[in-house]
Amino acid sequence: LKTAALISGGGSNMAALVAAAKQPDYPAEIALVISSRPDAGGLAKAEAAGIPTAAFDHKAHDRPGLERLVDEELAEAGIELVCLAGWMRLLSPYFIERWHNRLINIHPALLPSFKGLHTHQRVLDEGVKIHGCTVHYVRQEMDAGPIIAQAAVPVLDGDTADILATRVLMAEHMLYPHALALVASGRARVEGEHVVYSGQPS
Ligand code: GRF
Repeated sequence: LKTAALISGGGSNMAALVAAAKQPDYPAEIALVISSRPDAGGLAKAEAAGIPTAAFDHKAHDRPGLERLVDEELAEAGIELVCLAGWMRLLSPYFIERWHNRLINIHPALLPSFKGLHTHQRVLDEGVKIHGCTVHYVRQEMDAGPIIAQAAVPVLDGDTADILATRVLMAEHMLYPHALALVASGRARVEGEHVVYSGQPS
């Protein structure tokens, strides 16, 4: 399945998807990486892996303008599924509707808890003992949408937000390739706004 990864920063999740997709039986191909920032560190990683890239400066475009450019790139590359991987721009209802059930995101918390930003600090502030990450289909409401897969990590005494972020990120790098494989192979699908799994690829 021709898949694009949308990034804004370091792109470590994108790199994890690229590495997984190099495996012979993997059901998705990362065929395009798009960045909302021309200086995103992830662009060099994608180029080193031989993946076509496109970069736009979100500051130079309004939201419809940026999304039009992104959409053109996706169409030109024949992309069928889009993975948000640290893409830090809100997407318009138009774009989200256009990619309905073909647009997935990774969020660094166990949704529906801790939507939004600064999840690791907020987890520490609340004294929560289990944290993690979620891959979900994107819906209009931010950090909502049918959950495809989740991974949990412990919160340990002495953790700082940075230490916790690193532990969660390691879990993200395992979870996202797993979740993408479920979606791309047809083993995960949306039924009544929940994801159900089946053994049969469809
Ligand atoms: C990840 O923690 C992701 O969940 C969050 O932003 C971070 C992106 O990291 N939305 P990277 O760009 O994939 O390294």
